[in-house]
Amino acid sequence: MIAILGGGAVGQALSRSLPREGCRVGLRWNRSPLPRWQKVSARWTTVLPALDRFDLVLLAVKDAAVEPLCQTLRFRRGQLVVHLSGALSLLALESARKQGAAVGSLHPLRAIVHGERTPFRGASAGLAGSTLAARKKLEDLARTLGLTPLDVGDEARPLYHAAATLAAGGVVALFAEAALAFRKATGATEGEARAALLPLSLGALKKLQALPPPRALTGPFARGDAATVRSHRAALSKDLLSLYDELARAALRLAREGNRAPPETLDQVSATLPRRGR
Ligand SMILES: NC(=O)c1ccc[n+]([C@@H]2O[C@H](COP(=O)([O-])OP(=O)(O)OC[C@H]3O[C@@H](n4cnc5c(N)ncnc54)[C@H](OP(=O)(O)O)[C@@H]3O)[C@@H](O)[C@H]2O)c1
Repeated sequence: MIAILGGGAVGQALSRSLPREGCRVGLRWNRSPLPRWQKVSARWTTVLPALDRFDLVLLAVKDAAVEPLCQTLRFRRGQLVVHLSGALSLLALESARKQGAAVGSLHPLRAIVHGERTPFRGASAGLAGSTLAARKKLEDLARTLGLTPLDVGDEARPLYHAAATLAAGGVVALFAEAALAFRKATGATEGEARAALLPLSLGALKKLQALPPPRALTGPFARGDAATVRSHRAALSKDLLSLYDELARAALRLAREGNRAPPETLDQVSATLPRRGR
């Protein structure tokens, strides 16, 4: 039987998904009462009972709360205690391990917001376990939820999580910068800019489902169009210029890797960019 501690976006998603996949959830606990607007159908409690009857305890609280919460809890041998964080190592669960429980991490590689029905299906999950048996149980749990399991050891976690952060929040931050420039150019409202640019972004990302980045790349870097890049650089604000230049260098690397334009044309684009550090 499973206990879910933490009723945020991920805790609630687990609370909905696990029973649907035939897993028994016997406890849903949150530190404070869940707000009414979240319209949660399952019963969540703020009273934390003894946890010994649960085989699996999922600590779905924010990263900074995982270790302190774990330190206040009593565990027993045979239990598996798991956090959902991509950034934290298994050391955050050391107090559970010292009490004889196995510990692990299952980090869904998805940006999860409140109320999503099936946030896990089709995504991958970074897994770690303190024992082979724990690792195997987490792999089974991931597959049950429709997640593809990937091993991520403790030393690899900061880089793994940096990559995940760039792929999610980084893409949103880049989109927001593009939308600001678009509004400045066209006078569009925030909503109009988002509506105009989103099909462009989604279309570009969708290409990655079938093609590797060197083939999916479009635009003046793929074409080797130095004149266009020069005109972009003249129009961009100083703030955005350094971001544009960094991405331009990455795009040129892709264009070269994919032989997207003759090397001399790509050299001409490269020559429009300042050398690093200038
Ligand atoms: N959301 C995502 O996209 C995503 C994706 C993959 C993994 N994760 C991981 O999943 C875990 C949960 O994230 P989330 O997005 O569900 O967070 P969230 O929606 O922000 O909810 C945070 C939860 O942590 C609880 N909490 C905060 N401080 C606490 C404390 N000191 N003691 C006990 N509970 C405390 C909150 O309780 P209150 O309601 O009482 O404040 C709330 O239930 C994190 O480890 C996160 O890294 C998140």
